[in-house]
Order: sequence, then C-alpha cells, then structure tokens
Amino acid sequence: MSAPRLRLGVNVDHIATVRNARGGALPDPVRGALLAIEAGADGITAHLREDRRHIRDEDIARLMASISKPLNFEMAATEEMIGLAIKTKPHAACLVPEKRSERTTEGGLDVIGGHDHVRDATARLKAAGIRVSLFIEPSVDALEAAASIGAPVVELHTGSWCEAVSEGSAHAEHEFERIRVAAAKASELGLECHAGHGLDYATAKRIAGLPQIVELNIGHFLMGEALFVGLPQAIRTMRKAMDAGRPKAPWWTTPER
Ligand code: PXP
Repeated sequence: MSAPRLRLGVNVDHIATVRNARGGALPDPVRGALLAIEAGADGITAHLREDRRHIRDEDIARLMASISKPLNFEMAATEEMIGLAIKTKPHAACLVPEKRSERTTEGGLDVIGGHDHVRDATARLKAAGIRVSLFIEPSVDALEAAASIGAPVVELHTGSWCEAVSEGSAHAEHEFERIRVAAAKASELGLECHAGHGLDYATAKRIAGLPQIVELNIGHFLMGEALFVGLPQAIRTMRKAMDAGRPKAPWWTTPER
C-alpha cells in the first residue's frame, strides 16, 4: 500500500486581491476556480475575512453555485462567519485566527488558550453537516487540544518552515521536524491531517513525503506563478511536484527524507 493520495486545494483569495486593487469584476476568482479544477485541483479554498479585503460574500455564493469540487471555507470563529457558513453549507470550514492588522494568517489558532469559542464554533458547524478543520501550529499540545475540541481535521501551519527555507535559515530542519512529528501525532489521535501556508513547488514536494498529510492548501505562490506561466500550468507543475514527493513504496518501509 502506498501513501494515500495527496489532494491539492487551490486557494483563490489573491485573484480577488488583484480584482479589488482596481474595483470592478476582473479578474474573477470563480473563473480561476473553474480553471484550477480543470487543471487538476481537488478542491477550492476561499477565506472570507472580516474586512472582505479579498473574497467577498457574493464570491462565496458564486463559488458554491459554480464549482464541481468541494469548497473549503476559511473563516474566523466569529458569530457572523458561523452564521454565514451554516447558511452556505460548504463541504468544509477551516477555522483560522484573524487579526485586522495582519497581512495574512500569521499563526495557528490558539486552541490551547482559546478553547471555548473554538469548541462552540466546531460543534455548531459540525451539527450543520460541515467538515471542520482547525488551522494550528505543528505542536503536540495544539494537536491534543484540537482532538479534545472534537474537530475531525487539522491543518498544520507550514509558514514558519517555508519562511525558514526561503531565508536559507539553519532553523529550517528543526521546523520541518516539528511538522513531521505533528503529522504522526495527528494520525495517532485519529485526526485527518492537512497542511498549508507559504508552500511552493519545492516545499510541497518535500511535505508530500509525509504520508499522514492528505491535503495541501496552496494559494499565494500559485497565483504568483500564474502571472508568468498561466494558472493551469502552475497547477499541473504543482501536481507533478506533489506526486514526485509522495512515497510510492509501502511508506512504513520508505527511508526518512
Ligand atoms: N491554509 C490556510 C489555513 C491559510 O490561511 C492560507 C492563507 O490564506 C493558506 C492555507 C494558503 O497559504 P498561501 O496563500 O501562503 O499558499
């Protein structure tokens, strides 16, 4: 048995960022989502932020009406977003922390300190039939807290590792090791494990080597690449990188990479 197939979720937020820079309707994130699916994406991710800086409410409605693959609705655990998610009923909801001042989602959810509102949001979304994932730091404590909250899925924040890799920092291997240990712990706790933030072709290929991780969510890098090679080509190259990094032999006999 090989490692399970690694799904690619394409985050279309930054198509909306470019659109919003000028106002108007173009480029359209829904067109990007349809192209991404045609090129091999297994799902689409969109983050409706409190300040609507990229994706807007009508984008979510149009994505739900148009795409043939699952929508992963990224959201803060606020009353407004919980209400919207329950009304919209996407396939999945990924709970993320959100601060108005940050440029992107800068850290994992505080599942250890901020338990109650995350637990409540998780229960309400699950009751609405939505698959809930918690975006957390790759730490054993965060994984144990996520399991106790009752979410079936975690998404490990790969940002610190990717940043260390891109800076050529000696810390990069330590960061990768945290992800490796966290993915193994997720599996031990019975949690489905996803990963994302800051991934590019090389880091996606490497992380594909961790067999417990079954989904990567990737946005910014793919949209940047799309400027130069087009979105379908960027997605096909990403798919190839992920397949190349995936263990083919029985993964429990595959040497550590
Ligand atoms: N996963 C989560 C939970 C995120 O918040 C983001 C950023 O919106 C991503 C994945 C994608 O990160 P990037 O755009 O850096 O690929």
